[in-house]
Amino acid sequence: MGLSIALVGCGAMGSALLKGWITLPDTKERFTNFWVIAPHREKVEPFLKDPRACWISSPEQLPQTPDLILFAVKPYHLTDILPQYKAFESLFVSVASGKPLSFYETYLPSSSPFVRAMPNTPLSIHQGVIAFLSRVSLSPQNKQRVENCFRGMGFSFWVNSDDELDKVTALTGSGPAYVFYMIEALAQAAEALGFSKKTALQMALSTFEGASIYAQQSGQLPESLRAQVTSPHGTTAEAIKVLERGNLYLLMEEAVKAAYNRAKELAHEGQNV
Ligand SMILES: NC(=O)c1ccc[n+]([C@@H]2O[C@H](COP(=O)([O-])OP(=O)(O)OC[C@H]3O[C@@H](n4cnc5c(N)ncnc54)[C@H](OP(=O)(O)O)[C@@H]3O)[C@@H](O)[C@H]2O)c1
Repeated sequence: MGLSIALVGCGAMGSALLKGWITLPDTKERFTNFWVIAPHREKVEPFLKDPRACWISSPEQLPQTPDLILFAVKPYHLTDILPQYKAFESLFVSVASGKPLSFYETYLPSSSPFVRAMPNTPLSIHQGVIAFLSRVSLSPQNKQRVENCFRGMGFSFWVNSDDELDKVTALTGSGPAYVFYMIEALAQAAEALGFSKKTALQMALSTFEGASIYAQQSGQLPESLRAQVTSPHGTTAEAIKVLERGNLYLLMEEAVKAAYNRAKELAHEGQNV
């Protein structure tokens, strides 16, 4: 029997999830309904060709109790939104950054099955990373339900604490943006050498794609693969010297720590991410 899902919020992450679910090879067997609760229909429009998808503007319009209700809204909207869902006997999942499990207990019944999840946008093409955290009381059946819901969307795993999920947020939740930034930088360097914008971007994209797939498939560590491209006194060695002078390792460590600290701050405030 397939799952019925109410997706609350259809912005960057809500759309990524919906696209991922709708395009799974066995989507028809796995999902019966996607009720998308969003203030504006335009964001949901691209998905409405799928007969299982339906736009509604408030939870009162839900035709039946969904098996799973997933919150994909900004953390600062949760205080207003969560109380509207407290009467539902569904499995709740929230992908909001920073807000700890205890926060949800204030707004949803503490007996409700609840999971915090941290996905990333490549889930939309089934190449994502998603981590889950549940209350200890979550039954094995509900745990299984959550896993089934995200099966085939990428690499998934459970963590044991809010703190660990905040670390995942800083690494893989925000991580695609770090990679996009590096793609932008390589493309800009190609443009600076005289390539057209289009060729520069394609060169950067293909280099990241090829290197990433090669690193996954080769079974070798990235440092060994790097060494194979870096002959002593060669061209790559000169480039790597520049990156080392800029201390790329330290910069990445600082960037991830800054994101982690921000996730911690979000626990206590109503700010944007
Ligand atoms: N983006 C990411 O890569 C990413 C990664 C991991 C986790 N997250 C988490 O995912 C959550 C959503 O982030 P996002 O990037 O998708 O933000 P977003 O693009 O701003 O989307 C949030 C959506 O919520 C909608 N919304 C506002 N009030 C609502 C309500 N009462 N009911 C239903 N929907 C409502 C907004 O609609 P309108 O625009 O029409 O007002 C908006 O489309 C955040 O908590 C974030 O921490 C995001």
